[in-house]
Amino acid sequence: MSSSSIDYDYLRSVVMRNSGNQVDPSRDYLFESRLQRLLRDRGLQSLGQLVSALRADAGPGLQRSVAEAMTINETSFFRDTPTFDLLREQLLPALIASRRDTRSLRFWSAASSTGQEAYSIAMMLREHFPLLAGWKIDILGTDLSAEMVERASAGRYQRIEINRGLPARFLVKYLVRSADEWEIAPDIKRLCRFQQRNLCQAPIMPESFDVIFLRNVMIYFPQDTRRQVLLTMHRSLAPDGVLFLGLSEQPRMDSHWQTMLTPKTVWYKPIR
Ligand SMILES: C[S@@+](CC[C@H](N)C(=O)[O-])C[C@H]1O[C@@H](n2cnc3c(N)ncnc32)[C@H](O)[C@@H]1O
Repeated sequence: MSSSSIDYDYLRSVVMRNSGNQVDPSRDYLFESRLQRLLRDRGLQSLGQLVSALRADAGPGLQRSVAEAMTINETSFFRDTPTFDLLREQLLPALIASRRDTRSLRFWSAASSTGQEAYSIAMMLREHFPLLAGWKIDILGTDLSAEMVERASAGRYQRIEINRGLPARFLVKYLVRSADEWEIAPDIKRLCRFQQRNLCQAPIMPESFDVIFLRNVMIYFPQDTRRQVLLTMHRSLAPDGVLFLGLSEQPRMDSHWQTMLTPKTVWYKPIR
């Protein structure tokens, strides 16, 4: 089947329904490269055959696999350093002071990909806030992709991933060499847990979080989905909690979020 006869409209709609991600038609060529492994695993010869299989099987399994395979999983340790600097220098000291009675802090890395964001938070806490050793710390990472959740839970990284943002002293202190990879040390791992979750279908979280990282995922959503996801975040955040978005993202919901500009970065405060 020639590429012109592949029903890309249909493939785009499968991705949208199952992940909320919009694929611009100018990027249809990505289906070919990203879905190669799925085609091989399913014994399919071409995208045309995949479209036929999707149409024949209305169940969610194959549809979700297509949506997951189309996600962009780019991430790194301590991505956007000023965000972590601000958290360490100003926002966490204030949160710690106001939580001294409950001695508990909850973080949500929403769209956690391979886990570097969650582990960066955990390493920062261990390195700079020794007084939290006796506190209940919960760092939840969630992602649409089962494969990313599995990789994040394993916490094993290759040299190229380590080289992206992880300070050398943290490598020595908080990771252990395992064959040709490095693995997050148990003391850091136990602060973090990872779950598969679709942000577009997320029910309201039962407990509130003190800090939410929702970075570099809303860029893939259409405007109405962004609004929905931001409402979920608003309900899931403590009244004095902190929301971080990716540097190119804004909430555009003036009645719900106060934009807190600092010299090097920005964070969002929920308005009640
Ligand atoms: C570019 S990565 C961002 C990772 C990390 N937050 C960061 O900023 O470095 C985007 C992640 O969002 C996930 N994702 C995409 N759509 C999602 C959805 N509807 N629900 C949950 N995660 C989603 C992808 O699987 C991918 O791992």
